[in-house]
Order: sequence, then structure tokens, then C-alpha cells
Amino acid sequence: MDAPSPAVVRHAARLRGSLRVPGDKSITHRALILAAIAEGESRIWDGSDGFDCNSTARALAALGVEIERRGPPESGRVDRVVRSPGRGGWREPDEVLDAGNSGTTLRLLAGVLAGTPMRAVLDGDDSLRRRPVARIIEPLRRMGATLHARAADTLPPLTVIGRSPLAAIVHRPTVPSAQVKSAVLLAGLSARGTVEVREAVATRDHTERMLRDRGVDVRSFADVDWVVRMEGGATVQPRDERVPGDVSAAAFWLVAGAAHPDAELTLECVGLNPSRRSIVELLRRMGADILVEPLATDASEPAGSLTVRSSELRAIELDAADVARAIDEIPALCLAAACAEGTTRIHGAGELRNKESDRIGGIAEGLAALGARVAVEGDDLAIEGRARGPHFGLTGASVRTLGDHRLAMTFAVAGLLADGETTLDDADSAAVSYPGFFTDLERVSA
Ligand code: S3P
Repeated sequence: MDAPSPAVVRHAARLRGSLRVPGDKSITHRALILAAIAEGESRIWDGSDGFDCNSTARALAALGVEIERRGPPESGRVDRVVRSPGRGGWREPDEVLDAGNSGTTLRLLAGVLAGTPMRAVLDGDDSLRRRPVARIIEPLRRMGATLHARAADTLPPLTVIGRSPLAAIVHRPTVPSAQVKSAVLLAGLSARGTVEVREAVATRDHTERMLRDRGVDVRSFADVDWVVRMEGGATVQPRDERVPGDVSAAAFWLVAGAAHPDAELTLECVGLNPSRRSIVELLRRMGADILVEPLATDASEPAGSLTVRSSELRAIELDAADVARAIDEIPALCLAAACAEGTTRIHGAGELRNKESDRIGGIAEGLAALGARVAVEGDDLAIEGRARGPHFGLTGASVRTLGDHRLAMTFAVAGLLADGETTLDDADSAAVSYPGFFTDLERVSA
């Protein structure tokens, strides 16, 4: 493994500029996987060029799918052409499929492979090896696939012995997780009958939208649960996809722009899928001045530009459903809370401990090192904001990112707000989802 690269971020006197953030990570993973399942050629424009999506691309190549990159990547976006013999023509991989740092790669591919008659092993880096897989093993076994994992079937590496057809099931995930829902739906493509996922909190719906767009009968509706119902045994058609910017990447600039006393930032062409944009609503609830300008597009995913200006932020209260809807944006939101008037309380955030790092521990430690007042009680966080202190009471310090991209970017933005110099122990992880993050940071703070 390469030695970590520290980064120094200095206080910025003002923040100005217009940015295009990388292509959406969740949509890019799915566009690659669905293009590989379909027989024929699919083009994916402006997809994420982050490490995570490249892990998915490499794993699909090991299964016999051709993925050609077109043109140089630009600010974390790249065009790709995928040519596939269709899932029936995939070859059994002769090496372990390396998902790197990416939970989405591992869990979504496990779903696809469960319905593909071959044997494959999915593994990842030290962080991924600490992340739970029992949540996908249980439903995929019930559908008839054979799966085994380390530590009594709880942790990667994960062996999947697929079969087809699989049995149709109704699944009620025990934790809100789009990765689990997607694994079951992707396995459901090989199922005989109707597959249903019933969620207590609706998670991001990219898989459903993208399957529908590719000719699969998927319906979403609410009864006592949020229900996704899919007819199994469907053929996925190839389709071209233009990927909007990643709202989870935009979130760092929304927080930077809203908290900084002299800021105006525009994020162009960001995905605004209602199941992903809750960070915009949460920050607005905190008083953030965010202008949303929707773009007219014929893509299945809505997009628009976001302009954020310096705002007086105030504390809010988040429940477990708020956390689930903004699961990847909570670290950035914690920084906004440190700059707000009053105490922000975040309840039921336990799932954050299962991400690329223990994000509850990591955010509390890093923000506290910078001078913020953060209290953790079980799975709850309380952040006492210091809207009126100079630099919100934040002073540059050395902070640990725990190799987690979202912590690294949160603390880098904190460094723009804090007095003096902030040193991140390792800045490389930002490229997991946002290659070019530090170039954009220099651009807006120059
Ligand atoms: C993702 C779902 C989320 C999120 C991850 C991407 C996806 O995970 O944290 O970054 O693309 O489906 P969970 O659904 O497991 O919470």
C-alpha cells in the first residue's frame, strides 16, 4: 500500500466560483453493472472516475465485459463504452474480484452473481473487510444462492455460488439500505416470479429507475411500507446514460458556501433525484441560502444547478429517517452544525459506524480536534454550534481522516473555515469518490 499523503488546508478569506463535481457514484456503479448484464453496447457519459467506480469496472472486466474509456477524465468525470456478451456470456473469474474500498461494488455484484451460475469471490481493502455482509447473505440465500463469508458469514471476503433461476422472495431489510435493496433486485432479474422489497424508510431509487429504463417491469408504491415490486426473469436492454454530478460531492461545497461568511458557489448539473437531495432540504432547514435551478433533460434522473451563499445557520434536530435519507452527507452536515446557532441533535445514526470508517467516532474526533463541541451518546450526536465565535471556534490542527473519503473532505472544508492551518493525515482517500477535490478546493479559495 502507498504511504499516505498528508494535505494542508489554510483558512480561506473568501469562497467564489462555479464547479462541476464528479459524476454520481451510485448512478455510475449501476450504469456499469446494468450495461454489463445487457447484451450489446452501452455508452456512459460523464460517469464517476473515482476509485470506487473503477473497482466496479475492473470487476466487470474480469467477468469478460469490455469497458473502453473515451477521452481524458475531466474533474472526476469520464466517458465509457461498455460492450458485453450479456450476462449469459460472462466467464467465471479466475481471480478474486477486488472491490477495493467500495461497499456498493461488493454488495451489488453479490446480488448479480447470486443469479449467475458460476463461483466468484469478492474481497476488498482493510476498510471493506470490516463492513457487514450478513444483510445481503440472508436474502440471497433465501433466493437459493450459496454464499459464505469470513467471521461466521458476517465479513468479506464473500464467496458467491450463483444459480438460475432463483426463488422469488419478499424482503424486509432490517436496516435502511439501498445496497441491500439493489442486491435483491439485481438477483431478482434471475428469479422466477415476483420479487418485492419492503422498506420502512425509502432509500435511493436509482436501481429501480434504471431497471425500468432498460425494459424491466419494476413498480414503486407506498402501502404500510415503501414497496418495490419487480417481475423476475427479465431481460435488461442496453441503454446509453448521461450521469449527473454527484449531490453527495456537492454537499461539501454546499456546507462550505453556507457556513463561510464571504461565499458564493455554484455547482453545475448536479443530480437532484428526490431520494438523494435531502441534504439540500436539511441545510435549508438550517437556514442555508441555496438556489435550485432545475435543468430540462430527458434523462431518467433529474438534475439542476445549485447556488449557495453565505448564510446564518441554526441548529436542527434529525431523526433516524433523516439520517437514512442523507446517510453519506451526515459528516458534512455535522460541520455545518458546528457553525450554526444552537445545538444540533442527530438521533439514530448507528449505521454510520458501518461505513468506510466508524464515521460517528471519526467525525467526533476530528471536529473536536479543531475545537468543535461534539458529544456522542450511543448512536446519537449532539453538536453545539458556535455561530458567533470567530471562525466558529475552529482552529487549525492535525486531524485523522481514518482513510475515509467523506471524513477527509469534511475536514478539508473545516480547514477553509478554521483559523490557521489544518493538516489532514491522508488526503488520497478523497479520490474514492472525488478525484480533483483538492484542485477544486484551491480553485474556489484562491
Ligand atoms: C449507496 C448506498 C448507501 C451509501 C453508499 C452508496 C448506493 O449505502 O452509503 O455510499 O449506491 O446504493 P447503504 O444503502 O448501504 O446505506
